Amino acid sequence: MLEFTIFYSLMKTFVLGDNKEQVLELIPNKKIKTVQLGATKVCVTRDGEEFFVFETLCPHRKASLNQGFINGMQEVVCHLHEYRFDLRTGQVTSGSCPDLKIFQSELTENGLKIQI
Ligand code: FES
Repeated sequence: MLEFTIFYSLMKTFVLGDNKEQVLELIPNKKIKTVQLGATKVCVTRDGEEFFVFETLCPHRKASLNQGFINGMQEVVCHLHEYRFDLRTGQVTSGSCPDLKIFQSELTENGLKIQI
């Protein structure tokens, strides 16, 4: 008897921009931009050519994270109560609240691929 395992992926991949140079221009270094991907809004930032994509609202009290800033430790700092979140893992590094939701992204020659 044969057994099959079927994997369903509910993730969607979006591509931001047409090429690497355009993406680097669209998202200035350490600036936070809000991007609409289908029905989902995300924040996108970068440190050099390392990109980070995360949910738009702070897990603490839902402040807009695009009003925050990126510090020198690859953390996003919420403007409201200055809680900090690691951009690689989403872990809250200062404050007490759930972690930040992070989305996988990859900079390619054809644009920034984002999985949500
Ligand atoms: S709402 Fe972001 S730290 Fe409080």
